[in-house]
Amino acid sequence: MSEISKYGVVGNPIKHSKSPEIHSTFAEQTNQQMQYLPILIALDGFQSGIQQFVAKGGRGLNVTVPFKQQAWDIADELSERAQLAGAVNTLSFVDGVIKGDNTDGTGLVRDLTANQCFDLKGKSILILGAGGAVRGVLGPIIDEMPSSITIANRTLSKAEVLKGVFSDVFDIQVMSFESLNKSYDLIINGTSASLQQELPPLPDCIVDADTILYDMMYSKEPTVFNRWGNKLGADKTIDGLGMLVEQAAEAFSLWRGVSPDSRLIIDKIRKSF
Ligand code: ATR
Repeated sequence: MSEISKYGVVGNPIKHSKSPEIHSTFAEQTNQQMQYLPILIALDGFQSGIQQFVAKGGRGLNVTVPFKQQAWDIADELSERAQLAGAVNTLSFVDGVIKGDNTDGTGLVRDLTANQCFDLKGKSILILGAGGAVRGVLGPIIDEMPSSITIANRTLSKAEVLKGVFSDVFDIQVMSFESLNKSYDLIINGTSASLQQELPPLPDCIVDADTILYDMMYSKEPTVFNRWGNKLGADKTIDGLGMLVEQAAEAFSLWRGVSPDSRLIIDKIRKSF
């Protein structure tokens, strides 16, 4: 009898990760014989942690904070979207080869297009933040052919770096928060400000009645950013729970070759808050 296929999520901390619940539900839905566990790795022990997992027959890992960069470094092969993202959130171990991919951007785009029925084509998009989370999603957003992408960040030089990384494929505009002076179809919050219950210093004029706000963070209560958008009369505010589930669904189908139904688990987690 063949051994059960082993998967997991690595991070530090890892206790609160929803990935085990999401992937176990996917496995049940699609009849896959697999195990998926949370794995805590010491901050200075990423490489040996991965080696141990592979030695035990592990087939794939999701990678979360703070290891996405190290996962990029350790991969023998990188998908095109992982190369552009500069980070890896999905590792596959195939015949001694470590394959790195990044499903975050696909997850965000799929949540917007499939779950929220929002077509990005021809839309003006403002992205707040210029860290790893934003770099991770830019490629798939560009693929949807928006009319414009503006990145606003507290540290302007970091936004300039991202503009440079993607300059072959899209002409990204860079602005400070203070100099923003018009409204956008979609505003994505990719800063980590929500984690500290903070809001970047944004002018109210960037939101109008047709604007959709998307916070890449999620929480039980609406995030500070989404509360701000609601107060200004935005068309819709969305948090990052759908993105979390959709990036997991994409990883799952990479590993198992079947696509799970993500809508059911999004609703289930939302209700369990
Ligand atoms: P992540 O992997 O979550 O992207 P990161 O690479 O450290 O983490 O990037 C965090 C992002 O949130 C950065 O764009 C950061 O702005 P700076 O580049 O100026 O540091 C942004 N950020 C964090 N806290 C913020 C705050 N209180 N207001 C505005 N931007 C904030």
